Amino acid sequence: MRFLITGGAGFIGSFLTESLIADGHFVTVIDNFSTGSMANLASVEHNPSLRIIEDDILTAPNIKSLVAANDCVIHLAAAVGVEKVVRDPVQTIITNVHGTERILTAAAEYSRRCIIASTSEVYGKSDAPFFKETDDLRIGSSTNSRWSYACSKLLDEFFLMAFYRNHALPGTVVRFFNTVGPRQSGRYGMVLPRFAAAALKGEDLPVYGTGEQTRCFCHVKDVVRALRLLINDDRTYGKIYNIGTTRRISIENLAKLVIERASSPSGIKKIPYDQAYEPGFEDMLNRAPDCSALHTLTGWEPEISLEEIIDDVTTYAKAKLDGRI
Ligand SMILES: NC(=O)c1ccc[n+]([C@@H]2O[C@H](COP(=O)([O-])OP(=O)(O)OC[C@H]3O[C@@H](n4cnc5c(N)ncnc54)[C@H](O)[C@@H]3O)[C@@H](O)[C@H]2O)c1
Repeated sequence: MRFLITGGAGFIGSFLTESLIADGHFVTVIDNFSTGSMANLASVEHNPSLRIIEDDILTAPNIKSLVAANDCVIHLAAAVGVEKVVRDPVQTIITNVHGTERILTAAAEYSRRCIIASTSEVYGKSDAPFFKETDDLRIGSSTNSRWSYACSKLLDEFFLMAFYRNHALPGTVVRFFNTVGPRQSGRYGMVLPRFAAAALKGEDLPVYGTGEQTRCFCHVKDVVRALRLLINDDRTYGKIYNIGTTRRISIENLAKLVIERASSPSGIKKIPYDQAYEPGFEDMLNRAPDCSALHTLTGWEPEISLEEIIDDVTTYAKAKLDGRI
């Protein structure tokens, strides 16, 4: 098959690209390298099955012909990372709404299989123990820029559903929960790469808020495996799937586990949210997926443990610190 991957030089996109090429598919990546990099695609850079286009999905004049030339579009390009989103909500909204509109319009026009990346952020301040795709969503006020990411992604979901209903778009939404692994950048507020780098440097690990908030961390390779299972399944059209693990850990305990696994002398430093982000910043206490829809359909379950994830991320962070990558 021929795939177009927007944001294919990013963290998740680069693992997906490698996986598809390894199985004999052809991949075209379009990426503006804002948070992605060529280094992420180093292992396949010279593979004849890969074409890399450095361009912006907002302005690329050939988006329609790129979509038409492929069998399937996986749309991952987005403004990502809480820090980045809080700092630049205008660009977040434009990229996530207008960019997706361009991709979906073209995919609907040429009837191309399309999967778009949404996020667990859309569940907002829900206090359900496990979030289900059919749950009501509780997003905070528009005066709080943090919610612009969730709202822009939610609008993407509505777009896809509208194209599915009115134009028979063979489209699916995936809601990623915390996805982690090598190549993820800590620059935009992603917790695990920040912790790993601090532990290796012997610095205190910055825990935002009380540290009691819990999250579930899924290895990017497990996430890519889930995506691959959904691609060729026409039962997924017009549907939403959570992708993540159900093993919860508090952020403080995550910091302790990183310190332990890295045999680091580091301690923990708590930083209030309004210092870490902005005054009035809101966070959700717990965020865990109900992945039964995905499991029932495909049998998918995550296979990589949190300990293995931490070791993998720490090994990558060490190679980065040593200048080996
Ligand atoms: N990593 C996670 O935990 C997570 C969680 C929920 C949702 N997601 C979603 O998954 C997708 C991939 O995220 P990621 O973690 O790989 O982040 P990432 O930042 O590594 O990947 C995004 C890629 O999109 C590219 N990009 C951004 N704006 C672009 C534009 N206008 N034109 C072309 N390329 C552009 C970036 O350069 C980058 O390569 C995103 O849509 C994100 O919202 C990720």
